Amino acid sequence: MLFKNRHVISMKDFSREEIDYVLDTAEKLEPVARGEEKSRLLDGKIVSLLFFEPSTRTRLSFEVATRRLGGQVLNLGAVEASSVMKGENLADTIRVISKYADLIVLRHPLDGSARMAAEFASVPIINGGDGSVHHPTQTFLDLYTIRRESHLEGLKIAMAGDLKYGRTVHSLCHALSLYGAEMTFVSPPELRMPQEIVRDLQKQKIRVKETDSLEEIIGDVEVLYMTRVQRERFPDPEEYEKVKNKLRVTGDLLKGADPGLKILHPLPRVNEISPDVDATSHARYFEQAFYGVPTRMALLALAMGVIE
Ligand code: CP
Repeated sequence: MLFKNRHVISMKDFSREEIDYVLDTAEKLEPVARGEEKSRLLDGKIVSLLFFEPSTRTRLSFEVATRRLGGQVLNLGAVEASSVMKGENLADTIRVISKYADLIVLRHPLDGSARMAAEFASVPIINGGDGSVHHPTQTFLDLYTIRRESHLEGLKIAMAGDLKYGRTVHSLCHALSLYGAEMTFVSPPELRMPQEIVRDLQKQKIRVKETDSLEEIIGDVEVLYMTRVQRERFPDPEEYEKVKNKLRVTGDLLKGADPGLKILHPLPRVNEISPDVDATSHARYFEQAFYGVPTRMALLALAMGVIE
């Protein structure tokens, strides 16, 4: 399968066969991610982390993935300390960093910025989240988590929270459609899944249901994928205040759940999962954050052509 020098911009660029190949590669690398085995796959390689938006998991798990594979990291650091503050545009920044590093991981607030960066880069670009549309490496790790903790084929999944602005759910529902998932979207009316995504899924004969009640669906799903309400993407702060606490997973809610239910969350969480859920067998979100390491190792190694 040809991955060398390939950009990772959107899940729509990957077939099911290619996604399975990335997940299989991640599984092989999991002992290295856990520090149980050593690897020098990225010996001599430099991965640049260009983050124009805050991040904990994506940035640090890419850094850990690179280091565990024997590579080195070139970090832009705070945007305020870079020449972006002098007015340098993204295209020039990408052209220059392409001369310093073997691969660039980019996070940027503007929709489409990763695709644009790929046009100016002479090394692979991995999209670490751009605007409210794409976050493909999160989707790869979500799929990996679901495969490890439950199953992908024909999964019954509910995605809940901010389905309007949450880029992780936009990428995830496209990818899960390749596996014939049944999807329920749970949100306040103001934060519904964009209807063009719902229509796309229906065209693919995916069963889609929409509701505003977690109580209504909690007994019927195998995976509940919670998301935070994305305060930073609301044009009007008052609108955020109105919806921020509408959906919450609590120990009480879970009394109605299947014992095998797995709860995932891309994190960070705010109030949408109460701390008493963390100690239950349903909570898999911290393990999910770990799975970002083997998954990103696989993407780095494949894109740089050091593994086939
Ligand atoms: N899930 C995720 O993208 O987290 P960060 O914003 O901390 O990278």
